[in-house]
Amino acid sequence: MRPRIPTQPPQPNLNAAMQERARRLTKRQYVRFAFYKVDPAWRRLPAQEQAEAKQELMNVIQSFNRRMLLRPYSLMGTRADAELLLWQIAENPLPFRELASAIAGTRMGAYLTMAYSYFSQTKRSLYEIRTPNGNHNGDGESEEERLVIDPTEAQYLFVYPFIKTREWYQLSQHARQGMMDEHIEVGRKYPSVRLNTTYSFGLDDYEFIVAFETDEPSDFLDLVQELRESSVSMYTLQDTPLFTCINMRLDEALDALGGPPVAQKVAPGEVHEVWMEVCPLDDFGPGETKTIFLEGKMVGLFNINGELFALNNRCSHARGPLSEGQVNHEECSVTCPWHYGEFDLRSGAAIDGVVNKPVDTYQVEIREGKIFVGTRITY
Ligand code: FES
Repeated sequence: MRPRIPTQPPQPNLNAAMQERARRLTKRQYVRFAFYKVDPAWRRLPAQEQAEAKQELMNVIQSFNRRMLLRPYSLMGTRADAELLLWQIAENPLPFRELASAIAGTRMGAYLTMAYSYFSQTKRSLYEIRTPNGNHNGDGESEEERLVIDPTEAQYLFVYPFIKTREWYQLSQHARQGMMDEHIEVGRKYPSVRLNTTYSFGLDDYEFIVAFETDEPSDFLDLVQELRESSVSMYTLQDTPLFTCINMRLDEALDALGGPPVAQKVAPGEVHEVWMEVCPLDDFGPGETKTIFLEGKMVGLFNINGELFALNNRCSHARGPLSEGQVNHEECSVTCPWHYGEFDLRSGAAIDGVVNKPVDTYQVEIREGKIFVGTRITY
């Protein structure tokens, strides 16, 4: 059973205390960007073998969905030396190693080259985000949110690693903050572009790996071009390679590689249910909570007096982990551990505190003594 974190009832004017509490409780995440390229020899295999190899690879990748947040992207048509990205986010780095080995052990793994690999972690910024919303992009992102990556459904992801010059690190904090203020101001002009900054110092060859999500590639182009004119750009040593990645379902991203299609055919607007087996019901008793990953989202599962509820584990206020919050069994609610926003576990509705937006809920079923969590996807 997860230990309970003692909380206090929500009180007004506790912003500083709340921030400090969130600071203490927030866990950093590990992030991996694994770019693969297929050996052309695979495309000359008999069609049946290609289809079986894709199906096997898909099953292996999907089997890791319980352990990490995993998003597939295709680079077919956007980049010559990489064709598939698996963006991976986890609480510890071990699942990354296990997934890489499992992929290497498949039939298709014999034809996959690791074109690029970046390993990084989330971290608080060293700089103050001096905007009305406390945000680079103007969408209300807070300092805690920078520690928790919660990918959107944006169609494009732009990824690049970069290194700053050593002269940058010799500047005073005041001088660097001034240049970052200018940089942040430029970013705020492009609200359609959402930034995920991760840090790689000492973990891998680069210093930062940044990933921008957007539906508007031209906004990203304009943003990058405008940032070239900012003072901080003078202190960039390297910011290539740059990857334009297209958000796709895993079966579609694998089909984009070639071979006979294995993707389920779906018409636009069609609704499908996706279910994930979690664990035997006997292993999840009353009062317990746990998290799983379903369709690129972290889901919190709660057992309240024998009744099961599942909802998006990321608080709608600033992505606090609801599964680590205080559960009220009588009210059937959970209070976020970061700033005490309270949610109804049955409906996901925001019912008290600083929160004003609901969180998504998920279906829960017991089948032959096992817990399944499901959601509906509209294509
Ligand atoms: S993150 Fe602020 S109340 Fe949950």
